[in-house]
Amino acid sequence: MAEIKKIKNREIILKIEEEYHVGVARRAAAEHARLMGFEEVRTTLIITAVSELARNILAHAGKGTVTFRGISTGEKRGLEIIFADRGPGLEDTARVFRDGYSTKDSLGIGLSGAKRMMDELEIESEPGKGTTIRVRKWL
Ligand SMILES: Nc1ncnc2c1ncn2[C@@H]1O[C@H](COP(=O)(O)OP(=O)(O)O)[C@@H](O)[C@H]1O
Ligand SMILES: [Mg+2]
Repeated sequence: MAEIKKIKNREIILKIEEEYHVGVARRAAAEHARLMGFEEVRTTLIITAVSELARNILAHAGKGTVTFRGISTGEKRGLEIIFADRGPGLEDTARVFRDGYSTKDSLGIGLSGAKRMMDELEIESEPGKGTTIRVRKWL
């Protein structure tokens, strides 16, 4: 896949720089989830969350990366997906999770939706430096 930026320590890193990269990330999410054994409904939730968060990179930061990695804690296995950009960052990491909050006059339900669709979501952001969003879903 020409869109893969690199494969390091069994992680797959995709770049998000063009609209069609969102589709590439969606397909990568679908493939990872199915290969790991997620059933269809939960796979769809993962794909939808990836779609929203990858689209946010394009819309709000311009470009960035999406990383897929399998994780395990000993007793449980899961899929972790990391969205990273060096865009403008977020000033209020709590406010962005409110339904309807958008600085772009769009729906403002992407982040709140992604949080509900995944089991865990962590956001790290510094104004002027960028944003990293880490989501996990356990099998
Ligand atoms: N990667 C990002 N970098 C900077 N700001 C972001 C990023 N992702 C989301 N945001 C901010 O969070 C707000 C809410 O995001 P979201 O819920 O997806 O709504 P929308 O994309 O429709 O505006 C955005 O309007 C934007 O201000
Ligand atoms: Mg959005």
